[in-house]
Amino acid sequence: MAQIVLLAGDGIGPEIMAQAGRVLEAVNARFGLGIVTSEHLIGGAAIDATGEPLPEATLAAAKAADAVLLGAVGGPKWDGLPMANRPEKGLLKIRAGMNLFANLRPALLYPELASASTLKPEVVSGLDLLIVRELIGGIYFGEPRGIEGEPGQRVGFNTDRYSEPEIERIGRIAFEAAMTRDRRLCSVDKANVLEVTVLWREVMTRLSAEYPEVELSHMYVDNAAMQLVRAPKQFDVMVTGNLFGDILSDAAAMLTGSIGMLPSASMNSDNQGLYEPCHGSAPDIAGQDVANPLATILSVAMLLTHSLKAPEAALAIETAVKSVLAQRLRTADIATGASGERVVGCQAMGDAVVNAL
Ligand code: IPM
Ligand code: MG
Repeated sequence: MAQIVLLAGDGIGPEIMAQAGRVLEAVNARFGLGIVTSEHLIGGAAIDATGEPLPEATLAAAKAADAVLLGAVGGPKWDGLPMANRPEKGLLKIRAGMNLFANLRPALLYPELASASTLKPEVVSGLDLLIVRELIGGIYFGEPRGIEGEPGQRVGFNTDRYSEPEIERIGRIAFEAAMTRDRRLCSVDKANVLEVTVLWREVMTRLSAEYPEVELSHMYVDNAAMQLVRAPKQFDVMVTGNLFGDILSDAAAMLTGSIGMLPSASMNSDNQGLYEPCHGSAPDIAGQDVANPLATILSVAMLLTHSLKAPEAALAIETAVKSVLAQRLRTADIATGASGERVVGCQAMGDAVVNAL
């Protein structure tokens, strides 16, 4: 039996989660995976119901589960709340609470979507890169942090910090991932300015001695941002800290046509994982049945691969997604206006994937 916790969250979260849930049921039936699901609150929905962005019951259920599937959190309704009570805190707390230090964000271009990218098809066609982002350290969590002082003279501050063990454990994940791919790893830092990343570079270099088959390179983050939009196919695996990874993964997402296509996995050292689309809660389109459920559906495939060790079921989902794209079904975000395309809503896209399964 496999326990999976479903956290729909806010905005388009419930819509995309409904479709991903149907896909999960379909593969569960077809492959006899023995999956049992339970639904819990997170984000703004949890704040409204309990006053907390991550209720204790949610964290307890998540920790006891084999994997967690999450929609999205946040929205304008809660934007006025103090930092410590915002929906996003729920996400940060569950990542930290489950010790999910390794965030894998693959950016894969489906050939059918080459023309949906804002970059020229020849720049992005065949794109297949993996961003490995450290997820529970760095400036997101460093202390001291805060806003202090007299009105008009206040100072806001955060702390970017990484210890050698923290750098080493995310480095190992990245080197291991590179070993299963093209064996090229680019470590992204700002070692010309920030000491924390001088140490980062040193540890990555030291670690590379254990992975002689992986070709390690280093790049400053500003250059990496430029190279991602100039010539993204030069990258195989990129490894970086929490903040740079947040920014670079959004850029990488757009190379593939739409952030609505990108899944992610956040793992701890027990192969327990939280799986979520890279995009946010998109409050502007929530409740209109136009959101793209494919990133969440592909997150189910990552869940099956990494936490449930059910690669055939994962492959079936990926194949089903390819087949609906080949049928020229498109949600609004990946539509190009080309003739033969059929623009469908969130639910109809879910229907198509379930049928293809
Ligand atoms: C992401 C998101 C989150 C992050 C936000 C919602 C806290 O942007 O998963 O990339 O910054 O990590
Ligand atoms: Mg982000």
